[in-house]
Amino acid sequence: MKIKRNQKIERTSKKQGPNGTPVKAAPKPKMGTQIIPKERYTSSDYMHQEWDKLWTKVWLLACREEDLPEPGDHYVTEIGVESILLVRQKDMSIRAFYNVCQHRGNKLVHSFEQPQEAAQSFKCKYHDWEYGLDGGFVDIPDLETFPQGAPDCSGLASLPCDTWGSFVWFSLNPDVEPLKDYLGIIPEHLNPYHFERMVLTKTLTVEWDCNWKASVDAFNESYHVQGIHPQLLYYLDDKDIQIDCYEKHNRYLIAFSVLSPRVIAPGEIPAPIKVVMKGAGMDPAAYEGSVYDIRKDVQKFKRENGPEQGKDYSELNDDQLTDDYHYMIFPNITMNVHADDMMMFRQRPHPEDPNKMFFDYYMYELPDNEFDQEEHIRPKHKTYKYGDVSLGLVINQDAYNLPHVQKGMNSAGYKGLWIGDQELRVRHFHKTLEDYLEK
Ligand code: FES
Ligand SMILES: [Fe+2]
Repeated sequence: MKIKRNQKIERTSKKQGPNGTPVKAAPKPKMGTQIIPKERYTSSDYMHQEWDKLWTKVWLLACREEDLPEPGDHYVTEIGVESILLVRQKDMSIRAFYNVCQHRGNKLVHSFEQPQEAAQSFKCKYHDWEYGLDGGFVDIPDLETFPQGAPDCSGLASLPCDTWGSFVWFSLNPDVEPLKDYLGIIPEHLNPYHFERMVLTKTLTVEWDCNWKASVDAFNESYHVQGIHPQLLYYLDDKDIQIDCYEKHNRYLIAFSVLSPRVIAPGEIPAPIKVVMKGAGMDPAAYEGSVYDIRKDVQKFKRENGPEQGKDYSELNDDQLTDDYHYMIFPNITMNVHADDMMMFRQRPHPEDPNKMFFDYYMYELPDNEFDQEEHIRPKHKTYKYGDVSLGLVINQDAYNLPHVQKGMNSAGYKGLWIGDQELRVRHFHKTLEDYLEK
């Protein structure tokens, strides 16, 4: 019999012990209903304001702590026009520097998003000026030929740098608040997942023809599932979601391994739900319950069998064993957080063109007891043009759509974003953006 689900998603109402992720819905903020001007996505002037008042003020994600295991290990990342060098120090702290030689401005280290091992020092390839791991001058060849002496700085320009959640963060703002204050609720909410236990299995960058915010928006609402990802209607509930907005950051909790209320149950278990069942160790062919019971049964099965598989779910509630706890760390980090993996997107602005962006994609997976740490090789990071690489069906669908959105934003026939309640996170993101730009 074909049936449509009519009851609401059953959600866990208590957190899992004192250190579990809070699950209570946050109060709905009042943010009005006004149109969000499209010029935020298309204007060079707005892009420059973002650089001055947003990108150079916030904390930004660089790499993982495990990318820099030993003193001298280093890593280069980029934001806008800036290249940033992260270096593990002899005292095992991590420091961030502008990756630029103080002599004639050459970029000091030429790698990108790929961990580099054990430098003793950094020597600029142009005229051999040399810097220590702490950024200080080590050698300036023929210093006596500079009548003015060495530059009146101690070496590389350094930046605030800190760590949370196995990740290394930096800020272009010398007066930025402590990372802990900036992240607000995020550590309390996400520490139970223990990202430090997860292993990087994919890392790549794709240049997309859209503004970076168009990408952030696309991952901040599930209203577009019916239009862009119709296959997901047989995998998640796109309508009954819990949206929570906090000070800067926000989340939604979205039930997986269920059917959308927009569809009726097919005769057999939908293929993506079978994948989840098999991933947990269940046999879909032997399953006798209704498709509407699968989510709870997968949770039960994982709770009972996780420890034997080498997976510690003890700090996660039952919903977290199936669902997507989806977080946005303002301004540009999208986290699809699950018990067994975390798919993370970092959205970076193009340095010159508001119609372009860089989409950084990372996949982290929780190893089971068959995982061999010794054998694991960190995947090499690669940068692609749009269309040169598949990001999987779902992200490919978003990636295909976004350039069309950007084109439309540039049309005289369009004024701006007309936002509904299902897109509350989009409005909240813009409110936080306004708070920065109006400072
Ligand atoms: S620019 Fe670096 S040594 Fe000259
Ligand atoms: Fe999407």
